Amino acid sequence: MRALWISVTFVLAVSAPALAQTGGPLPDAPGKALVEQACGTCHGLELLAPSTRTAAQWRDTMAVMKTSGAKASDEEWKAINQYFMANLAYLNVNKATVDEVRQVFDVSEKVAQALVARRDTQGGFKTIDDLKQVPDLDQKKVEALKARLTF
Ligand code: HEC
Repeated sequence: MRALWISVTFVLAVSAPALAQTGGPLPDAPGKALVEQACGTCHGLELLAPSTRTAAQWRDTMAVMKTSGAKASDEEWKAINQYFMANLAYLNVNKATVDEVRQVFDVSEKVAQALVARRDTQGGFKTIDDLKQVPDLDQKKVEALKARLTF
């Protein structure tokens, strides 16, 4: 165990300057500094992005990291979780829960409920354009998220 820690520390020491130079692969958005602080101590941040993990997979990864020893306050965990949801998580809009929609689209509970209600009454979304019909959902947001949404 001790040998493992020493080698992990060694790898970190070697890779940290390279990351600092490039600014890291993570998108700039609120919560990034917290993520760098909480997630960059045991392994490189390049493990985190790019990634095709879904919202549910990020939730699972977060739980594993928590039990592996990643440390943050409850408030910080919330912000870290929100960072991954809003900036990296993939989402199947036809299966997503209200909570997942709220986090990945970064919208209010009310807008997330409107999206799910519309989906359920019309028997699912087929295209990005269907999504853009959801009342109060910012179309620019939908465009920006396009690459991470599946149907
Ligand atoms: C206390 C050490 C520690 C911290 C802090 C930590 N991790 Fe990890 N992480 C590990 C270890 C050990 C592995 C490799 C073992 C494994 O895959 O289970 C790993 C692997 C990973 C992987 C790749 C494997 C997978 O499950 O997909 C991801 C992604 C990841 N960590 C994300 C995070 C995130 C996000 C954070 C911050 C919330 C974080 N880690 C903080 C110890 C840590």
